[in-house]
Amino acid sequence: MEIKLSTLVKQMAESETIKMSQKARDLTAQGHEVINLSLGEPDFDTPQHIKDAAVAALQAGFTKYTPVPGLPELRKAIQQKFSRDNDLHFGLDDIVVSNGAKQCLANVMLAYLDPGDEAIIFTPYWVSYYEMIRMSGAKPVLLGAGIDQDFKVSPGQLKEAITARTRMILFSSPCNPTGTVYAKEELEALAEVLKEYPDILVVSDEIYEYINFKGKHFSIGSIPHMRDRTVTVNGFAKGFAMTGWRLGYMGGPTWLAKACSKIQSQFTSGANSFGQKAAVTALGKWFGTDFGDAGTVSAETGSAR
Ligand SMILES: Cc1ncc(COP(=O)(O)O)c(C=O)c1O
Repeated sequence: MEIKLSTLVKQMAESETIKMSQKARDLTAQGHEVINLSLGEPDFDTPQHIKDAAVAALQAGFTKYTPVPGLPELRKAIQQKFSRDNDLHFGLDDIVVSNGAKQCLANVMLAYLDPGDEAIIFTPYWVSYYEMIRMSGAKPVLLGAGIDQDFKVSPGQLKEAITARTRMILFSSPCNPTGTVYAKEELEALAEVLKEYPDILVVSDEIYEYINFKGKHFSIGSIPHMRDRTVTVNGFAKGFAMTGWRLGYMGGPTWLAKACSKIQSQFTSGANSFGQKAAVTALGKWFGTDFGDAGTVSAETGSAR
């Protein structure tokens, strides 16, 4: 058969970080000593109590499909995490659990952007943003901030980059790759600019919240006038050393969370069941609270035990 590929895949670039990490693996296999700084892998293993919770859930037969946006007990735990750590106050319907923060971001792009829209990415940036935006048909617009400004976009720069087509602003804080952390006052100043542009959605990638060497973490979505127009993305990969588990989550306006869930329902359904149970335990220990036991099934999920 003749090779035939879609226009979409032909136009897409492969993930640069995944390409680099494969190269590192290949060189290691050839006997080279390689320090691999490509993928954001924490330097500790998933804590034992989290692994035990997954095993307990598996042993208890918690192996079926879960609700697409995530187990209610996990979404409740995430709801409390957002509230305590980030001053973000979501309803359960505003939260969607996905196969990694990466899928949360892809869901948001596909749910929100249209061809012709522009999405501003603060640079230096995590490489997947660019291709995800392109996959949605929208145009990525790079807004650079160099070392002289601590890799932080200024309000003036933001204002200048906004056009009539801008529909999204996307950045990570703490930032991958620079590690820079936007202070509360800096995010307030950017949010002030956005007051003039109510059609622009902010996507705040906070996956590195707990790997922060710079300053106090602050969520732009907690600024009162930003609450209804910010999607906050986070996950278990980095802070809990669970990269391979593929568990991320987003909180945002109900209409967008519902749209993300709709997209996810067609691509992957809910995230893996026993991983979600273990994530409840991960957040529980972090909080010093029992959000529910691995292996028990809430009546709400209706899943078999
Ligand atoms: C900035 C940023 N956002 C999102 C992700 C994806 O996280 P996850 O592994 O939960 O999909 C990464 C992973 O490296 C990242 O660096």
